[in-house]
Amino acid sequence: MARAVIYESFGGPEVLKVREISEPHAGEGELRIRTTAASLNPMDWKIASAEHIAAYFNVSLPAGFGYDFAGIIDEVGPGTTGYEVGTRVFGGMMAKAIADYIVVKIPLSQRDVLKETPTDISDEVASTLTVAGCSAIAALETIGLRAGDTLLVGGAAGGVGIFLVQLAKLAGARVIGTASPSTFDFLSSFGVEPVAYGPGLSDRVKALAPEGISAATDLMGTETLEAALALGVEPERISTIAAGPNPPGGARPTGASEAPVDALERVAAAISAKDLVVPIVGKFPIEKIQEAVAQQAEGHVHGKLIITMM
Ligand SMILES: NC(=O)c1ccc[n+]([C@@H]2O[C@H](COP(=O)([O-])OP(=O)(O)OC[C@H]3O[C@@H](n4cnc5c(N)ncnc54)[C@H](OP(=O)(O)O)[C@@H]3O)[C@@H](O)[C@H]2O)c1
Repeated sequence: MARAVIYESFGGPEVLKVREISEPHAGEGELRIRTTAASLNPMDWKIASAEHIAAYFNVSLPAGFGYDFAGIIDEVGPGTTGYEVGTRVFGGMMAKAIADYIVVKIPLSQRDVLKETPTDISDEVASTLTVAGCSAIAALETIGLRAGDTLLVGGAAGGVGIFLVQLAKLAGARVIGTASPSTFDFLSSFGVEPVAYGPGLSDRVKALAPEGISAATDLMGTETLEAALALGVEPERISTIAAGPNPPGGARPTGASEAPVDALERVAAAISAKDLVVPIVGKFPIEKIQEAVAQQAEGHVHGKLIITMM
């Protein structure tokens, strides 16, 4: 038998059940991953909360749960080439991640990601990389971030933000990030100048950077992108991952799926070089999935929450 998080109706964390299912195996053209860790993203609870969001991601009931994972290939089915039992892997598999086993068809679907885990990166860290790392790089590439930029980041302490601010500092930018005041010390520890989100944001940013800001990326709603527009930043130097396909003022929408092909290798290299750290701020065994998802959905996680399968 094996455990898998499954839901049979849409709703809040209470719909997520840990089920004992018969152990799946890799069939013809498939491989099986023994999952060790998974990380949570807001899209996980959003998909489970509403049929129209699930439909956008091709998820239908009954559904598995979670996307980001890490583990080890433990079965390679007949006719599957290019993969070996024993390879440590990480990536993203839609509605499959939070389970003891992931069985997947090769070639992978366009939305799925499977990479070999670098030897010096733990499964727990590897499980946090795909959505957050790709989104952060996509958001920075969209605005062509360069050394000397003063970058305003909305939602800087969240799962995506914590990757993005570190990558922006590495690129040589000055980084100002929005958070609530109780999060300021956390952001400062990454060399980010914190500023409170909420009404009056553009005035507070102007006080911090009287010479102006040159670029912005909004990871939460539209407040930061609107403040950047008000401060005279060109729309092509403002990106957003959280405002849908038509953000206000001509700002540039982007997301994980638009990251360059080497995005994960770049994030992994920065971690291996100890230039980037992933704050894992909560670890929950799979049995505590409801508690973990409730915490994620509150919207005040600073870094990443992970689910452990082993
Ligand atoms: N398009 C894509 O491909 C893509 C990919 C990943 C994520 N997303 C979306 O991007 C958003 C951020 O994702 P995430 O993983 O970073 O989320 P997250 O980890 O849940 O973000 C939590 C952070 O948001 C901050 N926050 C809460 N309310 C805020 C507000 N009103 N203004 C500014 N910051 C606020 C919190 O700071 P405090 O605790 O200090 O309040 C906390 O640090 C989500 O909406 C997610 O669905 C899109």
